[in-house]
Amino acid sequence: MFDSVAVIGAGTMGNGIAQTFAAYGARVLLVDVSEDALAKGRKAIEGSLARVVKKGTLTEADAQATIGRIQSSSKLESITDVPLVVEAVVERADVKAKVFSQLDRQCPAHTILASNTSSISITAIAASTKRPDKVIGMHFMNPVPIMKLVEIIRGQETSDETTAHIVAASESIEKVPVAANDFPGFVSNRVLMPMINEAVFCLMEGVSTREGIDTVMKLGMAHPMGPLALADLIGLDVCLDIMEVMHSGLGDDKYRPCPLLRRYVAAGRLGKKSGKGFYEYA
Ligand code: CAA
Repeated sequence: MFDSVAVIGAGTMGNGIAQTFAAYGARVLLVDVSEDALAKGRKAIEGSLARVVKKGTLTEADAQATIGRIQSSSKLESITDVPLVVEAVVERADVKAKVFSQLDRQCPAHTILASNTSSISITAIAASTKRPDKVIGMHFMNPVPIMKLVEIIRGQETSDETTAHIVAASESIEKVPVAANDFPGFVSNRVLMPMINEAVFCLMEGVSTREGIDTVMKLGMAHPMGPLALADLIGLDVCLDIMEVMHSGLGDDKYRPCPLLRRYVAAGRLGKKSGKGFYEYA
């Protein structure tokens, strides 16, 4: 569908998105201001592809071809004539507004600007451009190469044509698109995050241990992983940011972040990426 795509942000989501588009034949430009993040992103892509090769569902040659389709750059200006840009930078509205405003100035009029934001308003992001009809949410799930869903968020001015292109693009990489309107947390995090937050309250109040809480949800509700382990996978800082966006955006105290979640984030216990969250990682 899109033969070339630029992905901004080489973190967990950005490198997963880059890998996925490249695996389906697109040329990908992966952009991050940090050379270190780019190097880590490439390493993560190589590791993920190696898992699939080991499983026997991808040949070594196909894995190499996928990697070969991914170029990287530390300059946003290197994004020029691509039909689609997917932004996956830090979840801060001011940073996203700056990135979209620059992209709007340097990309041709036909370029669709998508954001992988997990909770920030697409309408607000679009307002920092002169093409709000071509701004849309393309919310992937972690781990991107595995998870089938792409939540597609229409901002106030997103056009039917842009939505149709993004639905088709998602299907072309064998994802299942589901449309959502632009409300804080959309559907995925509006439902998921209160569950995670409540699991943290259970831990804080001593209702059960971390293993107990996770086992209840795994064996009792057939979740693939418990909510505390999932929070570690997502990142506790990301969980806290999303709770804050829903708390202020929806104005209901049922979205108040658990104090223990705040304390862990303040201590730098961010989950898997920092080596320690509710669990410890080697
Ligand atoms: N790259 C490639 N393959 C991967 C992979 C990766 N990064 N991660 C896992 N896999 C593959 C494994 O190789 C394995 O393949 P086979 O079954 O074919 O052998 C398969 O996925 C399962 O992996 P594991 O056996 O290692 O472990 P698992 O069975 O526990 O599955 C999991 C791991 C896929 C992460 C699973 O636990 C799961 O689905 N967890 C829930 C994830 C989830 O809820 N994600 C959404 C988070 S919310 C979000 O992302 C959005 C937001 O806004 C916060």
